[in-house]
Amino acid sequence: MDISIFGLGYVGAVSLACLARDGHRVIGVDIDQAKLDLIAAGKTPVVEEGMVELMRDVVASGRVSVTRDTRSAIMRSGLSLVCVGTPSAANGSQDQSAMLRLAESIGSALRDKPGAHVIVFRSTIVPGTVEDTLRPLLEKYSGRQEGIEFHVCFQPEFLREGTSIRDYDRPPFTIAGANAQAPRDALRALFGHLPCEFHETSIRAAEMVKYCCNNFHALKITFANETARLCEALNVDPFAVMDLVCKDRQLNISPAYLKPGFAFGGSCLPKDLRATLHLAKMRDVELPMQGAILASNRSHVDHAIAKVIATGKRRIGMIGLSFKTGTDDLRESPLVLLAEHFLGKGLALSIYDPEVQLSKLLGANLRFIERHVPHIGSLIQDDIAAVIAQSDVLVVGLDGAPIADALVEHVREDQVVLDLVNLPVRASLRGRYQGLCW
Ligand SMILES: NC(=O)c1ccc[n+]([C@@H]2O[C@H](COP(=O)([O-])OP(=O)(O)OC[C@H]3O[C@@H](n4cnc5c(N)ncnc54)[C@H](O)[C@@H]3O)[C@@H](O)[C@H]2O)c1
Repeated sequence: MDISIFGLGYVGAVSLACLARDGHRVIGVDIDQAKLDLIAAGKTPVVEEGMVELMRDVVASGRVSVTRDTRSAIMRSGLSLVCVGTPSAANGSQDQSAMLRLAESIGSALRDKPGAHVIVFRSTIVPGTVEDTLRPLLEKYSGRQEGIEFHVCFQPEFLREGTSIRDYDRPPFTIAGANAQAPRDALRALFGHLPCEFHETSIRAAEMVKYCCNNFHALKITFANETARLCEALNVDPFAVMDLVCKDRQLNISPAYLKPGFAFGGSCLPKDLRATLHLAKMRDVELPMQGAILASNRSHVDHAIAKVIATGKRRIGMIGLSFKTGTDDLRESPLVLLAEHFLGKGLALSIYDPEVQLSKLLGANLRFIERHVPHIGSLIQDDIAAVIAQSDVLVVGLDGAPIADALVEHVREDQVVLDLVNLPVRASLRGRYQGLCW
């Protein structure tokens, strides 16, 4: 394939060398003449393991050329990778100036280009940038229509500096963010041979995945370091602790607890987090990230409350009250917080939860619900159809096929369903359905 690569920093230079190694003809484009001169001489513009030898070999092969001229690079290639920098601006926003200037000049070059062209954005860019900013710029400057005369797509880059050639060859996965088959096929032709899963998604989701991965990595490092500081103060070996934490592939290093849903609660997580924070405070250990978890969790409850209040409806039906499906434990259940709030606002409330039978509640569980929702007995009903019938808004916090079936069977056209647990009912309930976060 004839490929042009815009931006020859860590991502662009490594991609150029690896794609040329794999037999493609690659044109490197940068505004920095020093980088172009280095590559033309068979030298690497970035310090990376293996790059000295690889760049020497691929330049010697004759498959690499460099230029400052966008137009010539576009004319001589069928696909472009855009890898220019997207640094932080002073206020923390993303400085997209290099990207915007480049989109204008690629657009102008496309004006006269015969045949189709695929532009693959690889720089990390905030979600929506390709569709809302770059595509319109390309269309304006080219006078051509995206999706017909050229294509855009987004493929996040996951290489890490220091191991970038190895990461290029063994990425965690390939994400093809595209809205049409032609760019998906082009990405598969370029990267489909890599030993990893190839996933197709929307452009916006692909842009977001990159941020999500980086933020998750930052979160993991911070969690390990906060834990280590607390361990140090407690005279516990942090490596022994984190090594064991990582050995749990069921709940810790796994997809568990990583599905968007409702706030956490129950008899363990909130109290143990509070005890950890107290322990840290007693020993003057700062845990800013873990210290923010309960507040973040509370915002999720507030978000659900705001969604219900925004409907303007006054008869609320809650499907579920315990802190998760399959238990009658009400302690610190975020659904109890919701119920408490709705009653405080003077809304009419009815509740269905097949696991919660007041006559069987005991001890701390009973005391918790009596303190938070004193007249709970008069609100709980054992017939889900009756709760649905009496409500204008249904807040669904219980999972499972019987709940989904009852909703599909009984929900009326004039009702709103706020789904906190991602039931597979979105399509059946159409306009009446709201997920918590969309
Ligand atoms: N460095 C990494 O490990 C890494 C990993 C994944 C993703 N990313 C993302 O990839 C993008 C590039 O990162 P990088 O570290 O390679 O950046 P970099 O700063 O090392 O290189 C960017 C290059 O773009 C060039 N450039 C700027 N404007 C240009 C233009 N109009 N035309 C051609 N070239 C132009 C610059 O001269 C520079 O050589 C960023 O968005 C970054 O967030 C980086």
